[in-house]
Amino acid sequence: MRKKTIFSGIQPSGNMHVGNYLGAVRQWVQLQEEYECLFCVVDLHSITVPQDPEKLRSHSRELAALLLACGIDEKRSTLFVQSHIPAHSELAWIFNCVAPLGWLKRMTQFKEKSIQQQSSASAGLFVYPALMAADILLYGTDLVPVGEDQKQHIEFTRDLAQKFNVTYGELFKLPEPLIPKLGARIMSLDDPNRKMDKSADNPQRAIYLLDSPDAIRTKISRATTDSHREIRFDPQRPGVNNLLVLYQLFTGRETQEIEERFLGKGYRELKQDLADAVIAGLAPIQEKYRTLTEEPGYLEKILARNAQKVAPVAESVVKEVKRRMGLG
Ligand code: TYM
Repeated sequence: MRKKTIFSGIQPSGNMHVGNYLGAVRQWVQLQEEYECLFCVVDLHSITVPQDPEKLRSHSRELAALLLACGIDEKRSTLFVQSHIPAHSELAWIFNCVAPLGWLKRMTQFKEKSIQQQSSASAGLFVYPALMAADILLYGTDLVPVGEDQKQHIEFTRDLAQKFNVTYGELFKLPEPLIPKLGARIMSLDDPNRKMDKSADNPQRAIYLLDSPDAIRTKISRATTDSHREIRFDPQRPGVNNLLVLYQLFTGRETQEIEERFLGKGYRELKQDLADAVIAGLAPIQEKYRTLTEEPGYLEKILARNAQKVAPVAESVVKEVKRRMGLG
């Protein structure tokens, strides 16, 4: 039987934080065992906000190396860069013309992001879900492993695929999101009421995968908690809850065992133990990243080979879409 296909993407806007890792990338590594996997560094999504060209290019390479260091196996999965495959942009334009404005206006991520930028927000930020739909639908994707914040975009992708199929004849498979039970929404360290993100305005907000042990300790020691004493899992106390979720994900321990461990102890001990667990969990990734990036040309070779591999698949889908729509 044909293996099911997994597709997921990550933006190269600075390096990866533990929210990306625990919410998405760690699942990707496990899913490689069972599925046909495609993982994409989505640089075209990153330019929906201003980017420094040199930095963007190096961030894309660094992120690809970091994904390999996390355990993406270049022999089993296909890791590639979105802008290497023009079919993504071409299908995105076509989808812009299929997607009703009202569907895009409902997207909560656009609403949140555009509040700060107001009318200087790019048009690309608004139509971003159509590009994401193109990414997913080009490869006959069955499952999309993502954090919770992407769920609405995958529902949009399904609706769009269905609309296309009804209008132009059955072509696209409807994908399902795959969201982890624990870690689907890791919160910011400075403000546990908002999700951890890559915003540059406060570097204390997120733990990055390449942070030094000292940086990790400092960030965790400054994390916002509350004035209660008891250490237990409780979503009503988002700061402590977030630290406990991180601790659980980095140690693999059970909820009860963790609560017993911290019974009668203070936040200082929780933070120290969490910092130890995060540092130990990230050390092998950092080590592998260093080795990978020391080998000149290694990464470029993988990315070029994979672009060659996926391009014909994506092009044939676009060709069929154009045929049905009377284009070309
Ligand atoms: P991006 O780059 O913002 O995030 C990459 C992945 O990390 C997850 N994530 C989180 N998970 C838990 N807690 C958090 N605080 C957290 N922050 C981010 C995201 O849910 C995501 O899975 N639009 C996407 C990229 C994309 C894509 C795609 C994904 C483009 N095309 C096609 C899937 C399929 C994005 O900006 O992810």
